[in-house]
Amino acid sequence: ELTGLPDQYGRVATDLRVSLTDRCNLRCSYCMPPEGLPWLAGPELLTDDEVVRLLTVAVTRLGVAEIRFTGGEPLLRPGLPGIVAAVAALTPRPQLSLTTNGIGLARLATPLRDAGLDRVNVSLDTLDPVRFARLTHRRRLTDVLDGLRGAAAAGLVPVKINAVLLRGENEQDGPDLLRFALRHGYQLRFIEQMPLDPQHGWDRATMITAAEVLASLTAEFTLRPDPAHRGSAPAETWLVDGYTDADGQPATVGIIGSVTRPFCGDCDRTRLTADGQVRNCLFARQEHDLRDALRAGATDAELAERWRAAMWGKLPGHGIDDQSFLQPARPMSAIGG
Ligand code: GTP
Ligand code: 5AD
Ligand code: SF4
Repeated sequence: ELTGLPDQYGRVATDLRVSLTDRCNLRCSYCMPPEGLPWLAGPELLTDDEVVRLLTVAVTRLGVAEIRFTGGEPLLRPGLPGIVAAVAALTPRPQLSLTTNGIGLARLATPLRDAGLDRVNVSLDTLDPVRFARLTHRRRLTDVLDGLRGAAAAGLVPVKINAVLLRGENEQDGPDLLRFALRHGYQLRFIEQMPLDPQHGWDRATMITAAEVLASLTAEFTLRPDPAHRGSAPAETWLVDGYTDADGQPATVGIIGSVTRPFCGDCDRTRLTADGQVRNCLFARQEHDLRDALRAGATDAELAERWRAAMWGKLPGHGIDDQSFLQPARPMSAIGG
């Protein structure tokens, strides 16, 4: 039997991002409308056992070496610690990480660490309580800060922070976020906003670019390109002059320029939605079903073959700048960052 998840362009997916729910307890404007969305119904969601079965196929038959749990907000999934424990027991053991808004992490960090989670990325776009409430439509900044502290205390390190800057909302918050991250030993990355918002209001002309983020940081910090090998990591990193991290290494800040500096040529990702559909790209127009096949009695070998076929059709890039670009029907919250 063949292993691995290659595509026609020579890329091989070894990094799986699995969405565990499309729900969230925040309403970040670039991700979900204030009133929420029509949620997936219970029977549409994969059960915990179904998730574990598909992740087992990915790890043992398809060469997946890293699994990131996403949402919506993955901490809202009651079965998360059990899923983590089951996947951590696989051979070979995959690297396990989580992308979360941090709410509830103060309580869950240690149980997740004990279950086998390796590290977390926490989304935080501003440290100003008023701007936080405006951007997320919820007053939960303190919960996020508690979550960050809990993650570090539990050893889910390095703790990374993801920040999206929006013009007219939090565009001034870059240096403040970096000062905070340096002080606490968190690894900060800024992310260019992508056309994955529910209102389809994204505009290439007004989005804050990687170059602008860099310029706003260099007003206050001296940054040098990080000589470390980037590999397939989406973030380009800079060394921050005069600062070190918890291990005494030079501190870094990252910028994920998905739009102006695309990294699709080095992409190693495959995605599974909470309702059991494979997406070969964040921007894929088509999904490939595994859930119904699984429920109809497909064998592990058959599920692996479906997954391979889904990845073979992956396009060379996201095509955001093409005339023919169409935003995916599902927003970020339902795809899983
Ligand atoms: P690390 O392994 O910690 O570097 O994780 P990560 O940066 O891949 O994961 P995270 O979930 O924190 O994602 C951060 C951001 O990277 C997302 O918000 C996206 O903006 C961007 N990103 C992640 N995966 C992809 C991808 O496959 N394609 C593109 N274009 N952007 C991605
Ligand atoms: N563009 C870029 N990043 C986004 N995220 C959510 N929606 C978007 C978007 N439209 C980020 C979140 C989270 C990560 C998984 O994706 O802030 O940190
Ligand atoms: Fe990979 Fe698609 Fe993301 Fe490009 S946009 S890096 S091809 S998932």
